[in-house]
Amino acid sequence: MSRTIIVSNRLPTKVQRTAESLTFQPSEGGLATGLGSIYRQEGNVWVGWPGLFVEDEAEEQHIEQELSADSMAPVFLTEAEIRDFYEGFSNSTLWPTFHYFPQYATYEQAHWDAYVAVNEKFCRAVLELAGPEDTIWVHDYQLLLLPEMLRNARPECTIGFFLHIPFPSYELIRALPWRSELLRGMLGADLIGFHTFGYMRHFLSATSQLLGHSSQNGQIETPNRTVLVDAFPMGIDYGRFVAAAASEQAQQHEAEYREALRDTRIILSIDRLDYSKGIAERLRAFEVLIQRYPEWREQVSLIMVVVPSRDQVAQYAALKEEIDEIVGRINAQYRTISWTPIHYFYRSFPLEELASLYRLAEVALVTPMRDGMNLVAKEFVASKADGKGVLILSERAGAARELSDALIINPTDTAQLAEAMHDALVMPEEEQVHRMTAMQALVRQYDVFAWTKLFMDRLAYSKIKQLTLATE
Ligand code: G6P
Repeated sequence: MSRTIIVSNRLPTKVQRTAESLTFQPSEGGLATGLGSIYRQEGNVWVGWPGLFVEDEAEEQHIEQELSADSMAPVFLTEAEIRDFYEGFSNSTLWPTFHYFPQYATYEQAHWDAYVAVNEKFCRAVLELAGPEDTIWVHDYQLLLLPEMLRNARPECTIGFFLHIPFPSYELIRALPWRSELLRGMLGADLIGFHTFGYMRHFLSATSQLLGHSSQNGQIETPNRTVLVDAFPMGIDYGRFVAAAASEQAQQHEAEYREALRDTRIILSIDRLDYSKGIAERLRAFEVLIQRYPEWREQVSLIMVVVPSRDQVAQYAALKEEIDEIVGRINAQYRTISWTPIHYFYRSFPLEELASLYRLAEVALVTPMRDGMNLVAKEFVASKADGKGVLILSERAGAARELSDALIINPTDTAQLAEAMHDALVMPEEEQVHRMTAMQALVRQYDVFAWTKLFMDRLAYSKIKQLTLATE
C-alpha cells in the first residue's frame, strides 16, 4: 500500500512544558486542518518538530508515544539547532530575504551548516518511515534542501514541495551565498507549489539565471528530470469559521465586548508579531486617520491583536518594543476618559474569541509589507454572515490576487491607508455586502480542502507524467 508522509518544521500539535507535566495542544492552523484528513488516514504520518527543547530520553519517548497515537512522528532539535537552524538560517537568513528585508538578513556559515544538518535529520526521519513508492509532501522554507536529499535516497518516491511564504525576485535570491544549493534542493521535488503565479515566475527566473535550466508552461527541464511548477493559492476551512462565528459563545463574547466598548465602531488587526506584517505602519496610519478626521475620535477604536512569535530573534524583540512605544504614545496623546484609541493585546486568542472579534469589527486591516498569502483576510470574510464589513488589504499579500473586492492599498502609503479606513467607515451597506458576498463565494469554493486536493491530484499527475516520459 502506498502511503503519504507530510513533512513540515512544526508538527500540527504544540507540545509545551508546564511546571508539572507536558501539555499537547492541537494546532488551530489552516495547514493542520487542511491536511488532517490525509495524515490521519491509516498508515500515513506527519513528521515535524514538536516545538520545544527536550533534554532527556524518557521525555522524548513519552512525546513520541503520545504523538504517534495521533499519526505524528517527532524530530527533536538540540538547543544549538534551535538557535542556528530555526532562529538562525530559517528566520534570520531565509525569512527576511524572502520577505524583501535583505537588510535584516545575516549570512553565517554556522547557521548554514546547521540548516544542512537539520534537513538531513528530517531526511533520516522520513526515510525510516517511507517506502520506495510512497508520496512525500514537504512544506515551507525551513526544509528547502529536503526534496533533493529525499530524491537521492529514494529516486522512485513521489515528492511534492509547497512554499508558504513569497518567493522573491531573483535580485533578492542572488544575494544569498547558498542560492544554488537551495534551488537545487527544491528541484528534488516532482511538483513545486506556490501561492501565486508571481512567486512561481520569480522561481522560474531564478532557476534559469542561476542554474541555466529552461522551462516551458511551468515545466522545468533539469539535466535528468522534469519538474512541474504551479500556483495553488491556499484557502481556509470556510465552514469552521462560519460555524465559529455563528456559535452561541462567539455571540455572547461579542455582546460583552460591545457593552464594554459602548458601541464604539471597531477596526480590527490580527497578526503574528513580525516585521513583514507592517504593524508599525498600520498604527501610524491609524494616527493619521484620527488627525485628518477628528470626527472619528471617540467614535472608532482599533483592536490590535499581536500574537507572540520568534522572540529570541533580535528583530522581533526590537519590533515588540517599537509597537509598545507607538501604541503607548498614540493612546497617551489622544485618549479620553471614555475612549481608548487602540486596544492592544499581545497574546493569542482561542477560535471562538477570534470569531467574536471578526463579528464585532466593521473593518479589518490586513496590510503586510509582504505576505505569502495571509489567511486572516479570508477568515474575516468567512465570519461576516450578514455580508457587512470591509476588508482593507495590502497589494503585497498573496490574498490580494484573489480578493480583488477588498480595498486594495499600498502598505507603505500611510496617507492612502488612512483614506481607505475613512472610506471603509463611510461605505454604504449595499456596497459592503456586494463586495463581501463576491469574496465569500471565492473563499468558500477554494477552501483548504480544495487546495489540498488540487495539490495532491497534480502531484499524482506529475508522477504519471514522469513515468511516461521515462518510458518514451
Ligand atoms: C509562517 C510560516 C510557517 C510557520 C509559521 C509560524 O506562517 O510559513 O512555516 O510555521 O509562520 O512561525 P514559527 O516560526 O512559529 O513556526
